[in-house]
Amino acid sequence: MMPAEGAFEGEGRKLLWRVLHFDPIADSRGSLISLEFGAAVPFFAKRVYYIYATAPEVRRGAHAHRALRQVMVAVHGSCKVVLDDRSRREVFELRSCETGLYLGPGVWREMYDFSPDCVLMVLASEHYEEADYIRNYDDFLAMGLGRSSGDEGAER
Ligand code: TYD
Repeated sequence: MMPAEGAFEGEGRKLLWRVLHFDPIADSRGSLISLEFGAAVPFFAKRVYYIYATAPEVRRGAHAHRALRQVMVAVHGSCKVVLDDRSRREVFELRSCETGLYLGPGVWREMYDFSPDCVLMVLASEHYEEADYIRNYDDFLAMGLGRSSGDEGAER
């Protein structure tokens, strides 16, 4: 269930996804998580959206991005995310508001198995732009053909 690291620029190589652990600030009143852009979140988010009221049989996502970087957090409830970089496919379950999933460009993702109470928050590095989406899986696969190492941030 737990994907291998997938990661960031700035660590000597570019990887595609990474599990982030957010440290809560807890006291007798409860807990608080602060997501600082450029620190806990490895970009400066221009957009936040959240997905909720999702029926259990629904699948969402089913696309990759050309440039967009995102961090997904199930701030309530749970869901699963398929991660696919053309050479491997893994599933990660988001089920804690203390855990984020960083997704770089060039990752096919599908979200499913939403609990009825799931609120999936997504921090995005750019404004919404349909041209950044790759929504056809065959196109996504084809874009990997003949790709030189390092394209799309997919260097490993
Ligand atoms: P869609 O891409 O289908 O969502 P998901 O990837 O979760 O399955 O988006 C649903 C609709 O919302 C679609 O018409 C595009 C629109 N949308 C925005 O206008 N702004 C946004 O930031 C996002 C993520 C989607």
